[in-house]
Amino acid sequence: MSGLFISFEGIDGAGKSTHIESLAQALEATGRIVVRTREPGGTPLAERLRQILLNEPMDAMSEALIAFAARRNHVEHIIRPALQRHEVVLSDRFTDATFAYQGGGGGLDEDFLSILEQWVHLPLQPDITFWFDVSPEVAAERLKGARLPDKFESQPQEYFAKVRAAYAARMASDASRFVPIDAHQSPQGVWEQVQTALAKRGLLAA
Ligand code: TMP
Repeated sequence: MSGLFISFEGIDGAGKSTHIESLAQALEATGRIVVRTREPGGTPLAERLRQILLNEPMDAMSEALIAFAARRNHVEHIIRPALQRHEVVLSDRFTDATFAYQGGGGGLDEDFLSILEQWVHLPLQPDITFWFDVSPEVAAERLKGARLPDKFESQPQEYFAKVRAAYAARMASDASRFVPIDAHQSPQGVWEQVQTALAKRGLLAA
């Protein structure tokens, strides 16, 4: 049994969190050891960088540099060791989020991000990336009344339209890694899509 790295992406309000936990439990029920983690974050240093990234105003390049500094620490201390132990890593976001938010939303040059990606973690990439795709309108409805929004969550819908388009472009450039999930559906409908994708790969019972 080899290690398995799965990431979860989507605009804020796409509703990925509950499904990450359901998937963790389903994989544990098959006997796998599952590491639940997130970006930015996952280590004490990266969690401190998360607070800065989510709360301090700065330009998109500074955001990307902080995101990749946090990621470097996360990859070296959590992700690679877990994969070497043949465990499953479920990460709530990874590098696609930097391409989507700082690239798409913030207008940062994609070539610059590709260089950081190359230096920081390639050839390591998630084996599977679930992209929870939802319209910015539906996401905004879901976020209403939730906890106090952070810097990204308080962006206007036009920003999220650009983030969403960047996710779509990222998927087009690496289609075999991505599993698009129609996140407009009910929680049960969304879960069935996640489960079916893993069953197809022989990772969960059909
Ligand atoms: P979360 O609320 O889903 O945990 O994500 C944290 C926020 O940080 C979310 O609004 C997306 C944003 N983000 C970036 O802007 N760049 C990144 O590289 C990552 C990983 C997250």
